[in-house]
Amino acid sequence: MTTKKAILLATNFDAAEQAQWLALLRAALPDDLIVDGHAPRGPGNADGIDIALVANPALGALQGLTQLRLVQSLWAGVERLLADPTIPRDVPLARMVDPAMNTSMAETALWAVLGLQRGFFGYARQQHQGQWLQHPLQRADETPVAVLGLGQMGRAVARRLLQAGYPVQAWSRSAQEMPGAVTASGRDALRGVLGAAQVVVDLLPLTPDTAGLFNRSIFGQMRRGSALVNLARGAHVVDADLLAALAEGHLSHAVLDVFHEEPLPASHPFWKHPQVTVLPHVAAPTDPRTAVAAVVANLIAHRAGAPLTGLVDRARGY
Ligand code: NAP
Ligand code: GLV
Repeated sequence: MTTKKAILLATNFDAAEQAQWLALLRAALPDDLIVDGHAPRGPGNADGIDIALVANPALGALQGLTQLRLVQSLWAGVERLLADPTIPRDVPLARMVDPAMNTSMAETALWAVLGLQRGFFGYARQQHQGQWLQHPLQRADETPVAVLGLGQMGRAVARRLLQAGYPVQAWSRSAQEMPGAVTASGRDALRGVLGAAQVVVDLLPLTPDTAGLFNRSIFGQMRRGSALVNLARGAHVVDADLLAALAEGHLSHAVLDVFHEEPLPASHPFWKHPQVTVLPHVAAPTDPRTAVAAVVANLIAHRAGAPLTGLVDRARGY
């Protein structure tokens, strides 16, 4: 007897979000068996699983799936999956690539850069102090922005910022081109990129090369009075060094969507810091209404032996 192939949905979603995903997947893939990863797994529903759709699953959640042939992440960042030793290295891992997410990221970045350029975060602070004080206008074309990471997210962000009139310099690992932007690549070029920017937007993946990138030395390479927008991963930033750079007045503000520990612990100084704007990891959430189509397209490609979108290069780490 052959076991029917099945797709596992292994997530840390709450019950409502898990139910929404299950319903959308079952509607889009009526001939497939979709296994709810929130239900206990046993011989009856584990044998045929050859594809796992995952969103921040617990470490080891895919252990024992001997027929696993594809892991499709519902998140763009895959550092947690790469750190899970129970996921076989020879099973292809694809990350989420959804143009709708790129649009959300571009909106968030534009909001942050615009707020910094026009001083709106400072005006919000003034409101709390009941202070009526007008500052000189700074134009978009006078506000150079560095976009670190020129992948799915970085490109969408750079495009949106260019449309809004900001001079954009974009930095990547390998040499890339981007119409309208100045591009630079490699670690040696970073100092020049940082030194030229009034706002630095982080859209890098979390890898051994980028963990702790924003430390005292890197903050020192940023312009005095410039600002950091971290929409990528909290572990890119050495929090104590960021707090020191703000205290010294070297940096003027930080907009942070991501943190070492999420939710950000109640006692963390970022919460009440007047020069830090905290978002609860909402810069570009995966939206099942559009992401299901991206998942289905990759499943079809996988089954046809065609190239996968967002295939992760394990050696590169993203
Ligand atoms: P991506 O398409 O893989 O792009 C990654 C970019 O970073 C590429 O341009 C890559 O360079 C560059 N890069 C990687 N390592 C580098 C290094 N050591 N030095 C310089 N550049 C480096 O990734 P993506 O889809 O844009 O997503 C980026 C990250 O955003 C994700 O990994 C995730 O952490 C984060 N994210 C956050 C949210 C949120 O809601 N806050 C949502 C989605 C994603 P090459 O072009 O040379 O490969
Ligand atoms: C969100 O942070 C993602 O990686 O998709």
